[in-house]
Amino acid sequence: MDAGCAQAQPALLDYKTEKYLLTKNRKVGVIYRFLHLAILCYIIGWVFLAKKGYQDTDSDPHFSIITKLKGVSITKNFRNSQEKIWDVADFVKPSQGENVLFLVTNFIATTGQVQRTCAENPVNSDARCSENLDCVAGEPVVNGNGIKTGKCVMFNHTQSTCEIYGWCPVENESLLRKPRLNEAENFTLFIKNVVHFSKFNFSRANTLDTSDETYFKNCRYNPVSSPYCPVFQIQEIITQAGQSFEELSVMGGVVAARIEWKCDLDRPAAECLPQYSFRLQDTKNNFRTATYYWDQERKEYRDLFKLYGFRFDISVTGEVKPPKNQQTIQETRNE
Ligand SMILES: *[C@@H]1O[C@H](CO)[C@@H](O)[C@H](O)[C@H]1NC(C)=O
Ligand SMILES: *[C@@H]1O[C@H](CO)[C@@H](O)[C@H](O)[C@H]1NC(C)=O
Ligand SMILES: *[C@@H]1O[C@H](CO)[C@@H](O)[C@H](O)[C@H]1NC(C)=O
Ligand SMILES: *[C@@H]1O[C@H](CO)[C@@H](O)[C@H](O)[C@H]1NC(C)=O
Repeated sequence: MDAGCAQAQPALLDYKTEKYLLTKNRKVGVIYRFLHLAILCYIIGWVFLAKKGYQDTDSDPHFSIITKLKGVSITKNFRNSQEKIWDVADFVKPSQGENVLFLVTNFIATTGQVQRTCAENPVNSDARCSENLDCVAGEPVVNGNGIKTGKCVMFNHTQSTCEIYGWCPVENESLLRKPRLNEAENFTLFIKNVVHFSKFNFSRANTLDTSDETYFKNCRYNPVSSPYCPVFQIQEIITQAGQSFEELSVMGGVVAARIEWKCDLDRPAAECLPQYSFRLQDTKNNFRTATYYWDQERKEYRDLFKLYGFRFDISVTGEVKPPKNQQTIQETRNE
């Protein structure tokens, strides 16, 4: 018994050593040493000297972003042919001015919805029916707008759908028209960015340090004449992202805005300016939101909005190369 047990164990308790093979082949030896030399040359030549790798760059900035959108738009035929004004509080979501923001360029408004029964929209295949038996009472319509009541009703002359209990009338995609907030092409996006490279205690802002309160209201970004004015026209952003505002604003999209800092502390501080680039990340972007209100009888209504627009995702990257000696960093800071 004991012996059997001991024999079953050895794999676990054995100690294994590597077996070396000494090759007396000059060719293999030369290649082996040459590889060593090549790696050494790469480290000294490229990483240390050319890339200043030994100097320890800082490519992990702490940063903050404040955004502001400016503009006003008016849309016609909103509720009972009324006009609706859209200002910053209406077309920017969320409103805190973060590095991710959504600008409304189009919408489907379903106004005056109340909780009652109505015919479901036939775009939901689960709602199409030919008799009451097709509509199981109490079941929700798959991807639909309400709970089936058990009745199959006429939607129009040719199509029947299940009756539902939900927010009625249901949303109607065919009400989506050409961009409603046309003026959005002339809206402006202000992106304030402060970066801090903790390794060198080095901070920069992309805005002009001015006491003139109107400066940012009137300026537009230009890399040569106004590099410290990060105010961009929406249409320009979309154009730079390689799209047309006209087309993209109908269904919306996601645009990545990138701020890239590359600073060499051996160079004058004025040369430490960020580059801005805009890229289309995705097309079609929408979400729903609703506002609620009550009539005199405390009956609840809501206006449902399916909002289409641009989401801007702003990111910051940066790299600071240290000065060759400590004196230069002092000068840069004293500026
Ligand atoms: C959507 O609107 C169109 C045109 O106004 C109308 O013909 C259609 O019945 C509506 N659909 C729904 C589900 O209300
Ligand atoms: C009825 O509605 C369906 C689905 O929306 C539509 O395809 C069809 O043309 C409509 N028929 C009439 C007569 O309006
Ligand atoms: C945007 O501004 C330009 C120039 O001021 C103007 O010609 C154009 O009509 C404006 N666009 C809209 C949609 O108002
Ligand atoms: C960083 O720089 C600021 C001024 O630019 C200075 O007040 C602060 O003491 C510095 N911090 C460190 C840790 O050197």
